[in-house]
Amino acid sequence: ANKKLLIVAGDGIGPEVMTQVKRVIAWFDKRQGLTFDVGEELVGGVSYDKHKTPLTDEVMGKALEADAVLLGAVGGPKWDNLPFADKPERGLLRLRKEMELFANLRPALVFDALAEASSLKTELVKGLDIMIVRELTGGVYFGSPRGIETLPNGERRGINTQVYTTSEIVRVARVAFELAQKRSKKLCSVEKANVMESGVLWREEVTKLAPEYKDVALSHMYADNCAMQLVRQPKQFDVIVTDNLFGDLLSDCAAMLTGSLGMLPSASLGATDQQGRRRALYEPVHGSAPDIAGQGKANPLAALLSYSMMLRYSFDLAKEADLLDTAAKNVVAKGFRTGDIMSPGATLVSTTGMGDEILKEL
Ligand code: NAI
Ligand code: MG
Repeated sequence: ANKKLLIVAGDGIGPEVMTQVKRVIAWFDKRQGLTFDVGEELVGGVSYDKHKTPLTDEVMGKALEADAVLLGAVGGPKWDNLPFADKPERGLLRLRKEMELFANLRPALVFDALAEASSLKTELVKGLDIMIVRELTGGVYFGSPRGIETLPNGERRGINTQVYTTSEIVRVARVAFELAQKRSKKLCSVEKANVMESGVLWREEVTKLAPEYKDVALSHMYADNCAMQLVRQPKQFDVIVTDNLFGDLLSDCAAMLTGSLGMLPSASLGATDQQGRRRALYEPVHGSAPDIAGQGKANPLAALLSYSMMLRYSFDLAKEADLLDTAAKNVVAKGFRTGDIMSPGATLVSTTGMGDEILKEL
């Protein structure tokens, strides 16, 4: 049977960039015989408008049955004043939670032609290709006790708790080790074992796994140093694995090494089900960009590169993923640019225009 893809394009530029992904899916079907069963459903504000909820149970069920979910973006000013439970973002959070997506993969990859767009000197980032694996369902964002309490002396106290269990650490570390095996075989595990108990446990558990991945060179680094090293000499890294909080900060930091939000893909991987399938959701890092929505200005490359991550990580289709990644690189190298990555002398193209160039290049 064909693998099942669920597309939830969402709001704002979500549908615009996903339209280009659908063209590429059709190209692979026609030219490479790569056929998926593609379903399409609503999530976010568009779902709220129709069903009064940002994600229906029916769509949630379809996401759980799919081999991979592709998401555009959710949210926008139209829905900003809804109660918290109805907000578009809740649709995405529910997907992440019920699919148990515990490993967030954020590549920071710099196309040679765009190295000047980085916040750093060109030579520091040219050829950069690193992957940050962020633990996504545990740690201080979810630990209890949490809350704001009033002390007997009248002072108030805000509480969050950083907690990690061995199984939470081991499963995300395994994802990172396996990725490192498929890449440059270097893994850097990041915590603050010097001041945090969860960091001590993290380091111990990751170290214990190392003998199972003898081909991977494992190193450890404190998170504050890692932030510094990412800016000082980012090319020293291959795969970084870290917790939810540090991963949030370090992945945003690494993102800016690459220059544009419109170029950044991501994957979130979850538990393996009874049939041996790993739940997975692929989405561009950017949001719904209401400022440019509906104008044909959105850069579809982040969404297209997310699709290529799906081919690579959910279906082991490295050759097909390379084909798409190379097409994206070549199109940019030939000077075709959407507004967000525009530079002097380059050719400005629309969202559809970028899709056209990708298809020509393929
Ligand atoms: P944003 O990522 O939507 O936009 C930030 C800036 O980057 C804007 O100027 C936008 O035009 C530009 N930009 C983003 N993606 C682009 C692309 N593909 N091509 C060209 N330019 C691009 O973040 P913002 O403005 O903070 O949030 C807008 C809405 O999106 C909010 O409702 C927010 O909650 C939602 N959001 C949703 C996310 C998701 O669905 N995963 C992630 C981040 C924000
Ligand atoms: Mg963040």
